[in-house]
Amino acid sequence: MGTVISLLSGKGGTGKSTAAAALASALSELGRRVVCLDADRELHNLDLCLGIRDSVLLDYGDVLDGDVTLERALTAVPDFSGLWLLPSPDTPRDGLPGLLSELKQKYDYVLLDYPGGMGFFLEEAACYSDLILLLATADPCSSRDAERTAQALRELGAQNLRLIMNRISRRLLRSSDITLDDSVDHVGIRLLGYVPEDYRVSLALNAGRPLLTTGTRGAAAAFRRIAKRIDGQKVPIR
Ligand SMILES: Nc1ncnc2c1ncn2[C@@H]1O[C@H](COP(=O)(O)OP(=O)(O)OP(=O)(O)O)[C@@H](O)[C@H]1O
Ligand SMILES: [Mg+2]
Repeated sequence: MGTVISLLSGKGGTGKSTAAAALASALSELGRRVVCLDADRELHNLDLCLGIRDSVLLDYGDVLDGDVTLERALTAVPDFSGLWLLPSPDTPRDGLPGLLSELKQKYDYVLLDYPGGMGFFLEEAACYSDLILLLATADPCSSRDAERTAQALRELGAQNLRLIMNRISRRLLRSSDITLDDSVDHVGIRLLGYVPEDYRVSLALNAGRPLLTTGTRGAAAAFRRIAKRIDGQKVPIR
């Protein structure tokens, strides 16, 4: 049975789509069969992070309508074997729970990339996820928003919450009174890993390439470590 992982944040723009694409790629490198589901119905851009812009034609609404099979609606990511993208339809639809059950039976991991904020989708994520990854950066607004989102998710019954601290800059931390540990403590959920600020994230996006094809350093390395931890390997956090 596969694992459903939702990526959420309080504040927008903390790196959910970047992380969803990179973690999904890294899990597929470990030999897992992975589906990335773009659950950001309005501002979806997971195709860009996976380097498959303009090659996505179908979404899961077409599956729910019975027009195509699930397999037909998946777009393969050519740089990684065993990785597919499934976009959401533009308008909210019933039927996601059944679809997730089918995906869990056929794939090892299903990663859901949600929008930022505290919308109705928190309930959906709390209900159907085996693991929720909250993405935050080290600034106080992001930590506070992540803490509030974590609280809302707990109230909705979410059990398995983990924190990823993204865009960590040593230079910025050195010139600030706030330590990384302070930020993690403020959010109040267990840390899964840190990802550094890395210019290669923008370079890859601008080149239309997935981050993990940029090599084995910086953010790509950090996401690979986090993916191993998700997959049950013992990898130290730092
Ligand atoms: N580790 C990183 N280093 C440098 N830039 C990064 C890093 N992570 C993300 N970014 C950049 O931050 C911006 C926001 O990232 P992304 O789109 O993944 O965030 P998001 O949480 O999905 O946003 P939204 O809430 O709008 O869906 C992008 O321009 C991305 O390239
Ligand atoms: Mg996003």
